[in-house]
Amino acid sequence: MTQTSLRQTATPQNSPQLIPALNPQFLPKHVAIIMDGNGRWATRRNMPRTIGHSQGARTLKDLLRCCSDWGIDALTVYAFSTENWQRPLDEVNFLMMLFERMLQQELAEMHIKGVKINFLGDLTALPVTLNKLVKQAIELTQHNRGIQFNVAINYGGRADITKACQAISQAVQRGTMQVKDITEESIEQHLCTRGQPAPDLMIRTSGEMRLSNFLLWELAYTEMYFTDTLWVDFDKQELQKALAVYQQRKRRFGRL
Ligand code: IPE
Ligand code: IPE
Ligand code: MG
Repeated sequence: MTQTSLRQTATPQNSPQLIPALNPQFLPKHVAIIMDGNGRWATRRNMPRTIGHSQGARTLKDLLRCCSDWGIDALTVYAFSTENWQRPLDEVNFLMMLFERMLQQELAEMHIKGVKINFLGDLTALPVTLNKLVKQAIELTQHNRGIQFNVAINYGGRADITKACQAISQAVQRGTMQVKDITEESIEQHLCTRGQPAPDLMIRTSGEMRLSNFLLWELAYTEMYFTDTLWVDFDKQELQKALAVYQQRKRRFGRL
């Protein structure tokens, strides 16, 4: 792709911020991120792990803005897994408080920018105040037409697939669905990501090369990008690096 054709395809809104190596036409539509390494970031600085989480929240705020400015349709982030309840209570409580604080502080601005917020996972297990804020955020932003921002809290891919199986089995039992109607599409309709296209690019920071129960169904054909950079240090340049790597990939989906 030449510089000239890049200039022709770039929109005035996103072209100034993208590095020239990136083709704005071939950005992933949906980026998913496992935001990992906050604890290590803090520990290496002799600080409590909670400071790492607070700093990590700032990184997320910045990158959501970048994705929105660059015209990426959807950003899905893993904020708290079903397994993360096993962490020390102090850390769990701090994280719940941080999610509440972020929502309180950022919701109005996100709404003005047209961000459409959704949450993935079993929200009934969240503290009452957080649950209320989550519902408010979904309701307030439901008609927005900007970036789709999915936050996975108390999310587990296995739990989500299990829940889908239960709902489908109940429908079959009631007779409202037949076994032959159980298809990949109907299963997808019962996942909490229903109605959204699968992520094109999945990024995990901090050097771990595993999914840790994130979007097990949805990531079947997603391009994976792993980096040693810790989430707190994963800035705009790092994201552009990941996008550039994505643009080098050949997505075949089983074809030749
Ligand atoms: C990711 O950072 C944030 C959450 C899981 C909530 P970690 O807290 O997992 O940080 P590390 O992996 O221990 O460094
Ligand atoms: C995955 O990170 C969950 C989130 C980033 C929210 P973890 O730090 O919990 O994953 P493991 O324990 O290293 O697999
Ligand atoms: Mg971790």
